Amino acid sequence: MADTKVYRASTTAPVNIAVVKYWGKRDAKLNLPTNSSLSVTLSQSDLRTLTTASCSSTYTGDDSLLLNGEPSDVSGARTQACFRELRARRAALEAANAALPKLSTFPLKIVSENNFPTAAGLASSAAGFAALVQAIANLYELPDSPSELSLIARQGSGSACRSLFGGYVAWRMGEKEDGSDSKADLVAPASHWPSMRALILVVSASKKGVSSTSGMQQTVATSGLFQQRISTIVPANMALMEDAIKNRNFPQFAEVTMRDSNSFHATCADTYPPIFYMNDVSKAAIRAVEAINAQAGKTVAAYTFDAGPNCVVYYQEEDAATVLGAFAPLLATAEGWKDGSVVNASVKLDEGIAGTIKEGVSRVIMTGVGEGPLKTDEFLVAEDGTPV
Ligand code: DP6
Repeated sequence: MADTKVYRASTTAPVNIAVVKYWGKRDAKLNLPTNSSLSVTLSQSDLRTLTTASCSSTYTGDDSLLLNGEPSDVSGARTQACFRELRARRAALEAANAALPKLSTFPLKIVSENNFPTAAGLASSAAGFAALVQAIANLYELPDSPSELSLIARQGSGSACRSLFGGYVAWRMGEKEDGSDSKADLVAPASHWPSMRALILVVSASKKGVSSTSGMQQTVATSGLFQQRISTIVPANMALMEDAIKNRNFPQFAEVTMRDSNSFHATCADTYPPIFYMNDVSKAAIRAVEAINAQAGKTVAAYTFDAGPNCVVYYQEEDAATVLGAFAPLLATAEGWKDGSVVNASVKLDEGIAGTIKEGVSRVIMTGVGEGPLKTDEFLVAEDGTPV
């Protein structure tokens, strides 16, 4: 009898925010980076993508993806590379065991949802591609490790390869031309340093900036400073950061985080024509973090910025009162501020800085270090194959 079953598997996957940034490709087709990078995986209670992958011989037409309720194009080279690699792995299992259903030959129907608003302006490609790859790997019952799956997710979006793990994650740039050694590995699980917190200040950008894919290509092609970043700065920062994480040394973690963010944005400014991701609100956030550290008499907070104006402030739970206290008068009415946060308003910010932040930040996300992808029985595709 023909197999008409709808096969389904679901996973959630987290967002990650780099503390040593990926910026630059040495091979755009395979998505191989010019430098290694390192990130903190953020808790899925606050930020996550939920994806159900399904397939069936009864599905007609091409592979499809429904993202936040809207049909999404899967014909792009990156998504196609992920589908191709995952199918090839499933086909190898099927070739070795004739009893397995031939899932690799069925069309895929994928449904995906983020638990955070797109309006937050947070890059969701990392969680999105990590969830896509993990959900299909679950559907195909692939034996591959998170590191092996990271090789596939990398081809969807570079930073996605780091979202296959929780905690503190490195993406080793690798040396091989075929990219087979350019993958993520675990530096330390979340349980190693569970007190790490992240306060995300969502800064609304008036217009969409340069995408990271195109921005980094322009930097590689035109910035002289970039050469120094990849040859000297990043290798040193990677070593210092791994050491800081191993020893739970927050001042070292913080200094490397801030210096690396500054270095990345300096290469953007050195790109010709220059690229500016930070705006006046971002710069005020940097000054606020400096004031917090100066008035605390030690480094208790670190800022970092990706390819946009949002500021991520890393701090430890034990310093929550000081760090949140500095922002509380400005952000207590912002969407996302968690009431009941213990605050100590001993840190006073300069009026100009405080005003810029109050005006420019309308939403905050208060979160912390978290776990990697989690298999779940929550399905976005019903047993009959229709999206739910
Ligand atoms: C600034 O992973 O979005 O966030 O590989 O072209 O999809 P593509 O780029 P993407 O770049 C992220 C850049 C960054 C730094 C980082 O996350 O390491």
